[in-house]
Amino acid sequence: MNNNPIGVFDSGLGGLSIWKELEKQLPNESFIYFADSGNCPYGPKSVDEIQSLSHKIVRFLIHKECKLIVVACNTATAAAINSLRTTYSIPFVGIEPAIKPAALKSKTRSIGILATQGTLEGQKFKDTSQKYAGNVTVHMQIGKGLVEIVERGATESQAAEKLLRTYLQPMLDGNVDHIVLGCTHYPFLIPMIRRIVGKGISIVNPANAIGLQTKRLLERYKLNAFKDGRGQNLFFTSGDPIPLRNLVRKIKGEKITPSIFQQKL
Ligand code: DGL
Repeated sequence: MNNNPIGVFDSGLGGLSIWKELEKQLPNESFIYFADSGNCPYGPKSVDEIQSLSHKIVRFLIHKECKLIVVACNTATAAAINSLRTTYSIPFVGIEPAIKPAALKSKTRSIGILATQGTLEGQKFKDTSQKYAGNVTVHMQIGKGLVEIVERGATESQAAEKLLRTYLQPMLDGNVDHIVLGCTHYPFLIPMIRRIVGKGISIVNPANAIGLQTKRLLERYKLNAFKDGRGQNLFFTSGDPIPLRNLVRKIKGEKITPSIFQQKL
């Protein structure tokens, strides 16, 4: 039993789509969320740069006594999780595009994946696609510009619609029945994606699976918070705190005043 917080980090606001689910599934836990919005996006950065940023964030979270860290970013997981696991002794939960369940469930034998350049070009993704999606057609698309749109809170803008239509049309033409969201920023675009692709296509968001995996690890390492412990949330950002505050309020309700701090890396 351990009342220390769980650390959650992302290149920016996207990981809030994971935090939202963690908070729901683990109501007794406390969380420290780090948004590296000052260095966002990670997608086009080199593996070395992403590793260096991820290590800085993890050191900060460990300094804040986090007992487990969720890397709520596909791009940072692809670039840095192995090195994080070998450097620090606390458990890590990483996130990878859910192409395995999508490939298994696909009836049309055709699936789409929208992710960042770093994720789609990473070795991890290549290995998983080869292993689990060898007998389906995978329509891969880099979601260039989408992370910035979510960071700006412009998820309902014309710019968002224009980019998404361009990225999703080839998938629709390819008769996909599943679209995997391989970046934690993209679930905030689901209402727009749904309007573009219609009802018949499954949009795969891995947040629920990450919640279950975090729960399993807390149990395995006996790290659960005491039953009467009340979960608290602290938010840190290396960028502008306003969009972070707005998105937390959008998720949790306009009345709450989240505790947000600016933190340079
Ligand atoms: N949320 C990050 C991910 O899941 C976005 C990466 C970026 O900043 O480009 O990959």
